Amino acid sequence: MQEHDAARVLVTQARGKTGAPLTSLLVDRGDVEMLGGTSDPARLDLRGVTPVLFAWDRPETWAPALEDVDAVYLVRPDWEDAPEIIAGFLAQTEPSARIVFLSEQDADYTAPDGWSPRNERAVREGSQSWTILRPSWFMQSLTDDRMFGGPVLSDGELPFPAGDARVAWIDARDIAAVAAVALLDEGHDGQTYEITGPEALSLPETAKALSEALDRPVVHRDLTIQQALGDSVGFARELDRLTFERVAADRFAPVTDTVRQLAGRPPRRLRDLRSGS
Ligand SMILES: NC(=O)c1ccc[n+]([C@@H]2O[C@H](COP(=O)([O-])OP(=O)(O)OC[C@H]3O[C@@H](n4cnc5c(N)ncnc54)[C@H](OP(=O)(O)O)[C@@H]3O)[C@@H](O)[C@H]2O)c1
Repeated sequence: MQEHDAARVLVTQARGKTGAPLTSLLVDRGDVEMLGGTSDPARLDLRGVTPVLFAWDRPETWAPALEDVDAVYLVRPDWEDAPEIIAGFLAQTEPSARIVFLSEQDADYTAPDGWSPRNERAVREGSQSWTILRPSWFMQSLTDDRMFGGPVLSDGELPFPAGDARVAWIDARDIAAVAAVALLDEGHDGQTYEITGPEALSLPETAKALSEALDRPVVHRDLTIQQALGDSVGFARELDRLTFERVAADRFAPVTDTVRQLAGRPPRRLRDLRSGS
């Protein structure tokens, strides 16, 4: 990127849980030309962001979205062929562009030929300048009505298969804070960061913290993994099954210091989910 020019940054999934707060942080930096990738530009209304048509299932949208871009925040599609899709996308990206890729905590859980490691490998092999972010479960999944937020907000119930396991929930705004640093500051090339919240909570503790955050009662209801999978099918079902098995094995319980190290402040707590911006 030219030293005196504003960096031109494409944030894919700009309407998403990490994408939206990331655009806000980048706009606040003042030296960024901010492009927000979305499959529906008419619905993207974020301060200082130019909406750009971008859809993983429409490869013809990739090259126009990538024009003159210096850095990309890359959010994978949770599809079986994501590793091939990412490789195809990076083949169209300027080799010098900085890539910050959103992966997941403990991405090496399977053999090297597992889906998650193959996504990361596509980034490491397809880009000269990359940083991989491995976040734990997002706190905002608990209030997103496309995820657990439906029953949480309607019935005050958190149906989640966990047993005694704990999760170090991370606020998506803190992932965005780490991503902004990795995108714009020097020294993060070739790094892989595991990102978690400040504490690992059991699911009953999670429900209690959510109650405080929302100022309304929330109780945890334990399920079997089979029950949680419901009538989902195919790859999405397999991915969810594996993810819940990893929860049960406490793979999302380790707490890291990444937010403090990169953003210079402690990560947010679940009970503070609704406070601040
Ligand atoms: N959720 C977690 O706990 C978690 C943990 C680790 C990793 N991840 C990874 O993070 C990525 C994002 O996952 P996510 O499930 O949390 O999705 P998300 O970021 O909330 O949203 C993804 C996309 O869904 C579309 N969308 C449709 N309806 C929407 C609405 N009402 N509000 C906002 N966006 C809407 C948007 O794309 P359009 O603008 O194109 O419609 C948006 O960019 C995935 O790669 C996932 O594997 C998630």
